[in-house]
Amino acid sequence: MISTGRKGIGPWGSRCARKRLRIAGRPGLKALRRLLVRRLLVLRLLVLRLPVARRLLPGGVTHDVRLAEPFPLAVARAGGSRKQDLDGHELICYVLGHGALLLGHGHPAVVAAVREQAARSFHPGACHELESDWAELVIRLVPSAERVRFTSSGTEASLLALRLARAATGRGKIVKLAGHFHGWHDQVATGADPPFDGPDSAGLPPGTASSVVTIPAQPAALAAALAAGDVAGVILEPSGCPPRPA
Ligand SMILES: Cc1ncc(COP(=O)(O)O)c(C=O)c1O
Repeated sequence: MISTGRKGIGPWGSRCARKRLRIAGRPGLKALRRLLVRRLLVLRLLVLRLPVARRLLPGGVTHDVRLAEPFPLAVARAGGSRKQDLDGHELICYVLGHGALLLGHGHPAVVAAVREQAARSFHPGACHELESDWAELVIRLVPSAERVRFTSSGTEASLLALRLARAATGRGKIVKLAGHFHGWHDQVATGADPPFDGPDSAGLPPGTASSVVTIPAQPAALAAALAAGDVAGVILEPSGCPPRPA
């Protein structure tokens, strides 16, 4: 994310944010007082909220990618391509829901569709005709896909992909590339963090770890790993790390 250095938020941002922007731009005691109050609010959030988050959530975050020093980015509101942090900085958002928000934050058409569906049935706990409509769209976008299993996270998706690879090939070994991340289940919690040569976490069962081989992202290393003919699948991030020296 990049700070635009401005306050207020995106094209369909709140009226409040725009009003605050006008007030902040107006010289005088009133504006100064408002800015001071705002700073105190931010201070309260940092002093009070951060320790609370750290007490209740491991690392104070809900996903490892959000860990940051001295404190993680906390967003107050978002609209379109912009987010506003708790300190009021406007940021251009390149994360966009990790890809889920293709149309930006709070796009009116998406918000309207979600509202409409939520009022009809939010979590039916049963099959729903929209599931196959959605699967059809995914298959249209991903020509190699034949059928779709929806998962709640990338971790589940990579877990299922490895199981499928083993079931389809009858082989046991999985090859992954050094530095590539595939979630936090046992089989892929290895070789993702420097020095890329062992488990990334305590508590991994030795048997699980030994069925996964981490290699440098080099064609020669891959050819060597495949030579024995016992590999069920190779998992990699297409947009992952640049090749590392062998
Ligand atoms: C390539 C890849 N696979 C799996 C995951 C794990 O996804 P999740 O955090 O939804 O479990 C990620 C998350 O960043 C990812 O980038």
